[in-house]
Amino acid sequence: MITSVTDDFWVLETSQMAYACGLDPDGRLVHTYWGARLPAQADYPRPQATPESSSFNQPAQLVAEEYPAYGGPKYTEPCLKASFPDGTRDLDLRFVGATIEAEGQPTLHLRLRDAVYPFTVTLHYRLHEDHGLIERSATIRHEGDGPAVMLERVWSAQWHFPAQQQTRLTHLAGRWYDEFALHRETLTPGVKVLESRRVTTGHDHQPWFALDLGGAQEDHGDVWFGALAWSGNWKLAAEVTAFSTTRVSLGVNDWDFAWQLNPGESFVTPSCLAGFTQAGHGGASQRMHDFIRDRVLPDGHTLRPVLYNSWEATFFDVDESSQTRLAEVAADLGTELFVVDDGWFHGRNLDNAGLGDWWPDARKFPNGLTPLIERVKALGMTFGLWVEPEMVNPDSDLYRAHPDWVIHFPSRPRTEARGQLILNVARPEVQAYLTDTLSRLLQENDIRFIKWDMNRSVSEPGWPDAPGDPRELWVRYVQGFYQILSTLREQHPQVRWQTCSGGGGRVDLGVLRLASQAWVSDNTHAAARLAIQDGYSRVFPANTMEAWVTDADRGELPLEFRLHVSMLGLLGLGGQLLDWTQAEREVARTQIALYKSIRHLVQRGDQYRLRSAQEQAYSAVQYLSKDRSEGVLFAFRTHLARPATLPPLYLRGLEPGALYAVEGMEGPRSAEAWMHMGLSLGLGDYQSAVRKIQRLLG
Ligand code: GLA
Repeated sequence: MITSVTDDFWVLETSQMAYACGLDPDGRLVHTYWGARLPAQADYPRPQATPESSSFNQPAQLVAEEYPAYGGPKYTEPCLKASFPDGTRDLDLRFVGATIEAEGQPTLHLRLRDAVYPFTVTLHYRLHEDHGLIERSATIRHEGDGPAVMLERVWSAQWHFPAQQQTRLTHLAGRWYDEFALHRETLTPGVKVLESRRVTTGHDHQPWFALDLGGAQEDHGDVWFGALAWSGNWKLAAEVTAFSTTRVSLGVNDWDFAWQLNPGESFVTPSCLAGFTQAGHGGASQRMHDFIRDRVLPDGHTLRPVLYNSWEATFFDVDESSQTRLAEVAADLGTELFVVDDGWFHGRNLDNAGLGDWWPDARKFPNGLTPLIERVKALGMTFGLWVEPEMVNPDSDLYRAHPDWVIHFPSRPRTEARGQLILNVARPEVQAYLTDTLSRLLQENDIRFIKWDMNRSVSEPGWPDAPGDPRELWVRYVQGFYQILSTLREQHPQVRWQTCSGGGGRVDLGVLRLASQAWVSDNTHAAARLAIQDGYSRVFPANTMEAWVTDADRGELPLEFRLHVSMLGLLGLGGQLLDWTQAEREVARTQIALYKSIRHLVQRGDQYRLRSAQEQAYSAVQYLSKDRSEGVLFAFRTHLARPATLPPLYLRGLEPGALYAVEGMEGPRSAEAWMHMGLSLGLGDYQSAVRKIQRLLG
């Protein structure tokens, strides 16, 4: 519920969280509270007069503004910086009004206007009451008719945390092949910046944070968390000011950014979601999972099929017979979706040619894709295909025809990465080409799944004939990408999409509005994967987490262990199945059948990280149905140097007072016994266990 307590003080409440802001005596829009919901409206603090200040510590330094704009004596991180046509680079935003939309998800709109210029900022606060989250964004508008205003920074939100406290930031960092490592650090005075400058979300960091006051654990304690719904350059600035106040700002990266805001035009920022929970870091993840499944994903509750992907089996040696033979084995093992990866299209024999020419290679598929698709369907599977639409190889028909379509500076060499350049999808003609070409592909072939890849980051970010400021590229590129994907979704509703960028380089709440699932990492070694997947689960639900068993660790780790690791998300296979022995195939068949019997729990249930694979060689994850009637426990032991008696695993979330049976364990026992006495498993190195949990009728 959103309440206008007075006409200058607002309280946003969900069942467990509250957020309050209002105007201080000087008319500044300031933050006053974010945390547990309080019993009465009168409990929420009202804005205070700013204490006496000195020449160096001006009021603007001291107050927690909801959306600080650069102007006046202000030296902390602002959300907005603009330059007016007369050269003024200073904003003086004054409150002009508020409206509350009560329908649907209640939304508070707070309107501000510059004291002199016809320039307005509207802050939006949409309350997701069922999920305990606030979604913030801002609309910046040039209301005048004079020349353009240049925007130099325009972030989505600034979030404030309890003052005078030590705050601990949890975030994810990594690189290609080693994404989503968890980091936890106490913030000290200054600004900690996480960002992407790659034109995609990037492997290096996630636009996500979790913040606590030092005491939060996995299953209890106060945690504030948030994420930006954006798939391009972004920035997170976590600042501890000289006055020991802490704020985290998130938005489109202002690095190399500019936006020419013409008269009558608006700039709308991406959304930034944030929430507060007393249920610890695990509780924060569960909130994100539920929200992403319920409100972000296009099909968050549809069960995902078991997938086969041919990349690591055949690399570029893709043709009708190699794929047909793989499909036959994949189907026999229980696979439901057969995806042909890179190598199928015109001129694509290696990574140095073909990108851009999205039609089947005539030598590899003399009769097009249809014979293979029909065979796949006859085997009882649906068919999927890999594309990398934003990319072009210089050795392609497309590049020979349109060398100027790529991102480049005319005076500079075009740096190739993996032999490829990036099409400027901000350009309408590039959008039209890609939409038409891919649309034809989807029309002519019965394709139900597309893996959309992006295998390099940007360099020489030029846009020579840009209609506005060429630095708008950073935002317009992402808008173009969204535009192409959403048009294709509308035209071909039968197709489901996967986001991939050399593994987990473009996973975020923005792209997940359009793509149902993600390729998490090119690293498919199960032991490494356990940690990567644990990091991924901090933000994203298991029904987006594609995980295939390949041959990367074949012969090194037991197949059962590798399959169990993949069963933590969306189980898939990606090995050269023709080489797999009958015994291996039998194990795969059995485990795929097991996965099908529990996937509703993994994909739709609540996830509990009982022991984190980021920190422990003995890790465990539990999934529990929303009605708590059934669940499944996964446990993994990687390498422990000495023979060890493993500690008990304490189940979570069971219904107090109910009786539960855990497969393979003595029982039934009470929920309390499983949760407080726990259960012990005996696992050797690289052994794993999957145990079904069942509530018994009382
Ligand atoms: C990227 C993807 C892989 C595979 C290759 C194909 O690296 O992450 O899964 O699709 O491209 O070139």
